[in-house]
Amino acid sequence: MTLFSPLHLREVTLPNRIGISPMCMYASQDGQVSDFHVAHLGRFALGGAGLVIAEATAVHPHGRISPFDTGLWSDEQVPGWRRVTALVAASGSVPGVQLGHAGRRAAVREPWRAGAPLDETDAAAGFAPWPLVAPSALPAGPGHAMPAELTARQIAHSVQDWHDAAVRAVSAGFRFIELHGAHGYLLHSFLSPVSNRRTDRYGGSAENRLRYPLEVVAAVRDAIGDGIPLSFRVSAVDGAEGGSGIEETVHIARRLAAAGVDLIDTSSGGITTDRSTDTRIRRGFAFHADFSRRIRDEAGVPTATVGLVVDAEQAERLLDHGDADMVLLGRQVLDDPNWPHHARIALGDDSHDSWDVRYGSALGPRARTLARLTASGETPLTRFSP
Ligand SMILES: Cc1cc2nc3c(=O)[nH]c(=O)nc-3n(C[C@H](O)[C@H](O)[C@H](O)COP(=O)(O)O)c2cc1C
Repeated sequence: MTLFSPLHLREVTLPNRIGISPMCMYASQDGQVSDFHVAHLGRFALGGAGLVIAEATAVHPHGRISPFDTGLWSDEQVPGWRRVTALVAASGSVPGVQLGHAGRRAAVREPWRAGAPLDETDAAAGFAPWPLVAPSALPAGPGHAMPAELTARQIAHSVQDWHDAAVRAVSAGFRFIELHGAHGYLLHSFLSPVSNRRTDRYGGSAENRLRYPLEVVAAVRDAIGDGIPLSFRVSAVDGAEGGSGIEETVHIARRLAAAGVDLIDTSSGGITTDRSTDTRIRRGFAFHADFSRRIRDEAGVPTATVGLVVDAEQAERLLDHGDADMVLLGRQVLDDPNWPHHARIALGDDSHDSWDVRYGSALGPRARTLARLTASGETPLTRFSP
């Protein structure tokens, strides 16, 4: 079972190749971890995932997507995260976090309120929009505020924010760090020609557009030391007219790997919210697998694939086929947090040894009882048979 073989990344070993994809939960006040986060992330670790990546966590308050994002811009946010990492690690899983800065896509409402830009109604409720920053003064799409173009000096400060957040992440107990370089947020907006129209050393050529992300990678690597793996989530294709495609992303992946990135987490899209220029890819099963495979093959860097990975055999085959080194699951584990345990059973190991002993010692005998009843022809509805 490739899915349940360990993955070694620097000094960290993931016990299996199933990771929980970062998912914003909009359950935070002032960037603080809440009881919800502890339960939410803890149950994925109990569910058997080898890696649990906490949601996009802002390196600066202005880098929050919404007012309800988690943060690591302050030392005061560290103790809350320690509750999460202790629980995840105690369950045999590796605690990870995605550090992010939303850039020109910051200051919006939760998805169930259409992710719309914050306005005066939100301000009246105490959630005023804040100033946006970006490589160039171009809004993310209709209705979004105009971001200010970052000066070279502000870029240097921003690199320091990532560094400091990474130091806090390690001190909070995270053993895997991911940088959010996708979905149109700040790092991606520097990489893409759609959003980066600068004429200084941070814009123009592909090399110049890579400069800020590479500076962030170097700063974060310096902050976390040599032992902790660093992942970078890319948008393999920008998903907009005039945007980057997979060839550019293979090049970007190669450069990131040379700068100290260990895993390319392969996603797509988001560079604009303007649906009229949006050329998003079709959402089929494992819809990023072709991209994660190309990056893995052509850039020679380990990859994670994400997007409608839903089934144990599908996940196993993706790995055996060389599409990626690990799978990340998002919505599937919201539906079934015990998916990794269930996948192990589906692939032929029904020992229940991978479950927390408090669960496994009860579920193993139950499975044997259910098997006996099934063999005898008894079903849950037998008592109601005529
Ligand atoms: C509720 C929710 C929140 C998400 N938040 C993030 C996030 O914080 N960072 C990120 O890179 N992707 C985020 N995503 C995208 C997921 O990580 C994942 O890539 C996407 O849902 C596709 O995988 P799936 O089909 O397994 O859900 C989010 C997705 C969902 C459904």
